Amino acid sequence: MPASGPTHPFTLPTPMFAVRQDSADSLLRAPRNVAVIMDGNGRWAKARLRPRAEGHRQGVKALHRLVERAAELGVEVLTVFAFSSENWKRPATEVRLLMELFAQGLARWEAPLREAGVRLTVIGDRSAFPESVVRAIEACERGTAGGERMLLQIAANYGGRWDVCQAARRCAEAGEEVSPENLEKYLATAGTGEVDLLIRTGGEQRVSNFLLWQMAYAEIYFTETLWPDFNEASFDEAVRWYQGRERRFGMTSEQVRAASSLPGL
Ligand code: IPE
Ligand code: IPE
Ligand code: MG
Repeated sequence: MPASGPTHPFTLPTPMFAVRQDSADSLLRAPRNVAVIMDGNGRWAKARLRPRAEGHRQGVKALHRLVERAAELGVEVLTVFAFSSENWKRPATEVRLLMELFAQGLARWEAPLREAGVRLTVIGDRSAFPESVVRAIEACERGTAGGERMLLQIAANYGGRWDVCQAARRCAEAGEEVSPENLEKYLATAGTGEVDLLIRTGGEQRVSNFLLWQMAYAEIYFTETLWPDFNEASFDEAVRWYQGRERRFGMTSEQVRAASSLPGL
């Protein structure tokens, strides 16, 4: 199929991250670790008879809103799926566009993220990226390294199976027993803990090889909302839903309730 619509020039605006201080709705205590599969850009564009590129561009804006709101609600680790190891199978024009958007976004977001105290890291196999993209990743990681408010992990050329395999390999190479505790240290997300809430937009109910290991006990929230339409209210809704869940980690409900009523918990 021929590529629809022009893909160039493509200029992203430089955003501001207005993370309001002390304005978080006190009833909304966000989970510590949130992961998001940002899906539905293509369908959003198609519904408007627009090229897929426009869906991706609007998707960047939706990510900007999410970063602001998540930081505001006190999320510590936010991991978003930007490009899967399977997305290379897409038409070359779309892959090129996504690479360009990614590199541009990193350059434009660096200073605003730093000012907002957000540290950005990229997780995934970066050996497959063009040199210009690798340089943009490294520059943005260096430039935001001091951020302490929130860690934003962009999953790019990421696959959950790749992550588990590379971690197991490095664990074995270090001469360590491949146990869950040891393996965790070698995952791309090392040190960030488990996913508490996984959100997938776009209506599909699957995990598409995202953080397979890390989501072992995640609460999973699926919404029909297409990613470019996902806004602050959508995120708040997901957080409220999460707050209504009882996380049992294998125990019975009675055990969980008894433990949470213990003094000091
Ligand atoms: C998600 O939106 C963005 C990426 C995978 C890069 P899609 O591009 O998958 O949008 P749909 O699923 O085709 O609507
Ligand atoms: C998952 O979305 C990957 C990203 C959001 C980057 P896809 O659109 O690639 O997932 P599938 O192919 O529908 O499972
Ligand atoms: Mg999709």
